[in-house]
Parts: sequence; structure tokens; C-alpha cells
Amino acid sequence: MIIKPIRIFLILCLLFLSYSYCIYFKPISIKSTSNFNIHKASAGRLVWQKYNCQSCHQLYSLGGYLGPDLTNIISQPNKGEVFIKAMLVSGIKQMPSFHLSLNEMNLLLEFLKSVDASGSSDPRKWKVNTIGMIEKNEN
Ligand code: HEC
Repeated sequence: MIIKPIRIFLILCLLFLSYSYCIYFKPISIKSTSNFNIHKASAGRLVWQKYNCQSCHQLYSLGGYLGPDLTNIISQPNKGEVFIKAMLVSGIKQMPSFHLSLNEMNLLLEFLKSVDASGSSDPRKWKVNTIGMIEKNEN
């Protein structure tokens, strides 16, 4: 039996529409954004840029590789705000002490909270599901 080209075309259209449906109607899962102030976070991004933290650190695995990725530093066990403040005040290894003002420090922490809320930097925690979307691997 020969399949007519019009049928192949219709099957492809059907596949395209059902795949688009799956993508656009999939609920978006975003961590709660209520624990940070968006205005302070955007001011904090300027602090991040001013001191060029990205030249040595990564966000979402992109950036310099002298220091570790800081995407989820705020929510990592045994780290968080106090730890970050201590690192910034004292410096560590090749990282100098930056002498940030208290306000700059707080804005920077707000920025790091917003980055943490936006996702995870570790690609190994994600898996591809049957329709080609990525999902968090809870195992
Ligand atoms: C000259 C390169 C350099 C710059 C610029 C830099 N850092 Fe670092 N940072 C490092 C290195 C190296 C470490 C230590 C990594 C280690 O312990 O092995 C570090 C460690 C840290 C840590 C501790 C991370 C952990 O998981 O132990 C934090 C937090 C941190 N830096 C924040 C910042 C912030 C915020 C800025 C911008 C104000 C910044 N760093 C700029 C090089 C840098």
C-alpha cells in the first residue's frame, strides 16, 4: 500500500500540533519568588557586575572557573547568607576581600537569592521526559 503524500503531511501536522499543545499547556514550575525583593535584586546585579564576580564565578554554569558556581549558594546546606558575607569580608584563596559596604553586601545577597529562585545550575539533576521536555530528577 502506498501512503499518499497528503496523508503524510496531515500526520506531520497532527504531530506538530500535539507536540505544541504539550509544550504550551505544560504548567511552568518556578520556585517561590516571594523571598526576595525584585528591585533590590536588580540593584544587586549591578554590584555583581561592578566587582566582576562573574570573571571567577559561574551562574548557571557560565562564567569564570577560578571559583565555584554560585547559582545556588544561598540555599546550599551549611552555606547561605552568613557564609557568603564571611567570604566577602575575609576573602579566600585567590579571591580578595572586596570591602563592600553593608548596603552593597545586602543588595548582592538579594541578587543571589533571586538567582537561586530562578533554577538550579547542576545539569545532572535534570532528566528528559518522553515529550522531550526536561524535568527535575528527584532521585
Ligand atoms: C579573582 C577571582 C575571584 C573574584 C573576582 C571573586 N571570587 Fe569569589 N572565590 C574565588 C575563589 C578562588 C574562591 C575559593 C574557591 C575554593 O574554596 O576553592 C571563591 C569563593 C567564593 C565563595 C565561597 C564559595 C563556596 O562554595 O565555598 C563565595 C560565596 C564567593 N567567592 C563570592 C564572590 C562574590 C560575591 C564575588 C564578587 C563580589 C566574588 N566571589 C568574586 C575567586 C574570586
